[in-house]
Amino acid sequence: MITQQTELQYLPPDLKRELLPQHVAVIMDGNGRWAKSRGLPRIMGHKAGADTLKNLLRCCEDWGIQALTVYAFSTENWKRPREEVNFLMALIRRFLRQELKEMVQKNVHIEFMGVLSELPLSLQQEISRSTEATRHNTGIRFSIATNYGGRQEILQACRAISQKVQNGLIKPEDISEEVFEAHLYTAGVADPDLLIRTSGEMRLSNFLLWQMAYGEIYITDALWPDFDRNEFHRALSAYQQRERRFGKV
Ligand code: IPE
Ligand code: IPE
Ligand code: MG
Repeated sequence: MITQQTELQYLPPDLKRELLPQHVAVIMDGNGRWAKSRGLPRIMGHKAGADTLKNLLRCCEDWGIQALTVYAFSTENWKRPREEVNFLMALIRRFLRQELKEMVQKNVHIEFMGVLSELPLSLQQEISRSTEATRHNTGIRFSIATNYGGRQEILQACRAISQKVQNGLIKPEDISEEVFEAHLYTAGVADPDLLIRTSGEMRLSNFLLWQMAYGEIYITDALWPDFDRNEFHRALSAYQQRERRFGKV
């Protein structure tokens, strides 16, 4: 096992560095099913999923991916049982606590996207601490979508822009795609080239609705806790076979 991970520390030779996606987004799905298949409570699936995320972040650093955006909690996930929601909030907090030191060392720039003011205060504090500590880091940009919804993101951009119009700062005819993008959580970051969704579901579930206009989608049946370097390798290989046309012939 150890030798296998060491071998995979470097970009697999069959992948072309110049064709790597710059920005990878992930819908980390299937934790519940993973736990259920083992006769464990759902939360154990989330716990295992957090370890998978740690490994994927390291892999992206090792292989030279510039931005990684992951869906950790949707605006719809509040509808889950309260104990599960509480566990997820505590898990994100623990993840930050445990990983911050290494992320600082490895020059990771952490960002959060979503309605953060609705999160538990203790999590908000941990988020501030980690984003503050990595603010000037120039390595991989690691965004965690927490209490995130694509529609909510678009609406908050509309509100912010309307406010500027009302204050006479911009004119309606000046609202271009660039202006709009500058008001999204992903301002300044290129759109994802590749979106990976685990556990076979073929939907966006309100993730990055604007940004995924031309992103490639890769869906695997692997459940999130089982998504390892070999799985990521497969996703990148598939991506490198795609022909991206952007509406051209
Ligand atoms: C994804 O796994 C984690 C979150 C949504 C937080 P799920 O919890 O959705 O797992 P399944 O889809 O029930 O298997
Ligand atoms: C999407 O997964 C949200 C996250 C992975 C955080 P869900 O499991 O909530 O999505 P649906 O309900 O299957 O669409
Ligand atoms: Mg799910």
